[in-house]
Amino acid sequence: MRTQVAIVGAGPAGLVLAHLLARTGIESVVIESRDRDYVERRIRAGVLEQGTVDLLHELGLDERLRREGMVHRGIELRFDGERHRIPLSDLTGGRAITVYGQQEVVKDLIKARLEAGGQILFEAEAASVEQPVSDRPVVRFRQSGELYDLECDFVAGCDGSHGVCLGAIPANSLTVYQKDYPVAWLGILAEVAPSTEELIYAYHERGFALHSMRTPHLSRLYLQCRPDERLEDWSDRRIWDELQRRFALEGWSLAEGPIIDRSITPMRSVIHEPMQYGRLLLAGDAAHIVPATGAKGLNLAVSDVRVLADALAEWYRTGDDSLLDAYSQTCLRRVWRVEHFSWWMTSLVHRFDEDGPFEHQLHLAHLRYLCGSTAASTSLAENYVGLETA
Ligand code: FAD
Ligand code: PHB
Repeated sequence: MRTQVAIVGAGPAGLVLAHLLARTGIESVVIESRDRDYVERRIRAGVLEQGTVDLLHELGLDERLRREGMVHRGIELRFDGERHRIPLSDLTGGRAITVYGQQEVVKDLIKARLEAGGQILFEAEAASVEQPVSDRPVVRFRQSGELYDLECDFVAGCDGSHGVCLGAIPANSLTVYQKDYPVAWLGILAEVAPSTEELIYAYHERGFALHSMRTPHLSRLYLQCRPDERLEDWSDRRIWDELQRRFALEGWSLAEGPIIDRSITPMRSVIHEPMQYGRLLLAGDAAHIVPATGAKGLNLAVSDVRVLADALAEWYRTGDDSLLDAYSQTCLRRVWRVEHFSWWMTSLVHRFDEDGPFEHQLHLAHLRYLCGSTAASTSLAENYVGLETA
């Protein structure tokens, strides 16, 4: 088999890349280890930055997103029995975020790609990337027990944080920056109308909690827990009791409903530098992870592949490889900006084991300043909706 760009992974990075390449007439094959149903059901991100929504619109992939996505023009910060609204749109010249499940984005992208005759091979697991430093790299993959070679001009490693593409880069060619935060999120999806119109980030002495949503009938909620906690130790009653405590506010109540999905996600930051090795280019979670607090992972994956698609288009059009050579450096500017914002948000709203009364007061002072100062809330808002240039 042969194609121009072999894309490993049918997550947001791989699928958006396939669409961007098709727009400029570049052929690709997407190789995905899971089946279609699995990738379309996997519950993950929910917040799309303005730039991500604009790109999906440009690609003509926003028909359902426009109908079902929920545009949010503000978020709430809740602490010390008070609530404060950060008016995102007022502070950013009208920009906003859209709440629309990642699995819905993935569904839309897969459907449109297949309808356009694009190739996505499901249950095809990449085993290795051969000869990345040559002009004929190969992705070796396994499907139905058989091994196949996909020859190509370039390999896009969009295979997430547990993929194989990163492993094709020798360790001595990589610098790895990593931080494991001593906190995790227990996330639930519940069949109950959201108790709020806008997302609520709550700082509480018992730990952070987040109220998000997926549809007018589905709530997505998170509560801070320890990374080593086990889901079995959290009964539905314990989860709701803890959420009730952390969101408690006079005159407001949290509606409960059946929990239909639950998971624990540790908060961590990882960056691999550089994001390229010969003709292998990493994008999205394969190259970097951000803690979920800033709602940035999916959006960063989309930014990477936008840079990558432009660089590949230039190479195919003119043979000029300067944009490709600069790929990693261009992406990493935004990656580090977003890593900083996500680290800052994580530090702001979580309660850490070593925190005593002093740190608690500092958290409250910081939150009050954010809510009371236009300069401080503008900084939060412009990062949250996504910076146009980083
Ligand atoms: P992935 O979505 O992980 O896709 C990689 C794909 O590669 C997968 O389909 C995988 O099956 C496939 N694959 C792996 N190995 C192989 C192989 N060997 N061969 C073939 N295929 C392979 N981000 C936000 O922006 N906003 C949020 O609100 C947000 N919330 C989150 C909440 C949770 C609970 C979690 C876990 C993540 C959240 N994120 C959020 C992060 C976001 O989901 C990820 O950053 C995003 O999925 C990255 O996209 P990706 O395409 O790089 O990787
Ligand atoms: C989500 O809806 O899943 C979500 C929202 C905001 C975040 C993280 C996750 O910061």
